[in-house]
Amino acid sequence: MQSNPMPTKARPADHTESQLYMRDVLSVRQFSPDLLKYVFGVADDMRSFVERFGSADLLQGKIMVNLFYEPSTRTSSSFMAAMMRLGGQVIPINSVQYSSVSKGESLADTIRTLESYADIIVLRHPEVGSAAEAAKWAQKPIINAGDGVGEHPTQALLDAYTIQRELGRMDNLTVGMVGDLRFGRTVHSLTRLLLNRGITFRFVSPRLLRMPEEIREEVEQAGDMFTECEDVHEVIGEVDVLYVTRVQKERFTDISDYESVKDAYSITPDLLAHAKQQMVVMHPLPRVGEISYDVDTDPRAAYFRQMQNGLYIRMALLAAVMGRA
Ligand code: NCD
Repeated sequence: MQSNPMPTKARPADHTESQLYMRDVLSVRQFSPDLLKYVFGVADDMRSFVERFGSADLLQGKIMVNLFYEPSTRTSSSFMAAMMRLGGQVIPINSVQYSSVSKGESLADTIRTLESYADIIVLRHPEVGSAAEAAKWAQKPIINAGDGVGEHPTQALLDAYTIQRELGRMDNLTVGMVGDLRFGRTVHSLTRLLLNRGITFRFVSPRLLRMPEEIREEVEQAGDMFTECEDVHEVIGEVDVLYVTRVQKERFTDISDYESVKDAYSITPDLLAHAKQQMVVMHPLPRVGEISYDVDTDPRAAYFRQMQNGLYIRMALLAAVMGRA
């Protein structure tokens, strides 16, 4: 969007509610505290709409393309459900092997094709920066649904919304992030989104999967606190949020490295016996063994509520970007 070779996307005056109108959603860096509050408010409205009526026709006549170059269950289907519950239509492209991508078409051309049929494009792609690249070519808004190991801004929004709803605040908390902090894009985005709120971060990972230096530096520059360790027992007693992640098998070049860390963590009722009564366990899902199923009935297990919050946050974003919030 910065050095757009195409005509600039339409932009109205800079009121909070219009900061998203016809904008790309590429990074959590775009979200000021005021904008975040606004999105959460719209998400609350969307929740009431869905609970009372099932749908609203705010986006009737609009078409969204869901362009996914990587596997997805929650992100793709919640974006689709969000658009459909707002009265819009969806072109789902989840199997790019059946599209012209398999003939060698560039991302730029695919994007320019799809935007000529639709009003907004949701993109998941394995390369860092791909959403920003797509946004350079597109005149219609691009929403980043995960760019490789880079960012996953809409996930961070729904994660923060979940923290706010579950704990009643997002400030001065102790947040433990556990698992694959190196390749997990959700923890990259969530850390950035939670900066400057007096949060203490406890990064828990095998050495091989440490939080990237770039993000550790951003935490330092914000003047926030973080520590790193390998053993979740060191932090379990003090965290308000335990954000657990999957080891991202698909990002490893050496499978023996993956084998050496894949079972590093297992969150169990025994472990949670040492946690605060008022805390939440979160996970972006899918889980592949790092949270045992018998944790699911613990009232502190928030990951299924978190997943559902994704629908309301994505409805709020689509409505705001299309100017109908
Ligand atoms: C995450 C992702 O794709 O980054 N999933 C999701 O969007 N809920 C996390 C993961 O795949 O481990």
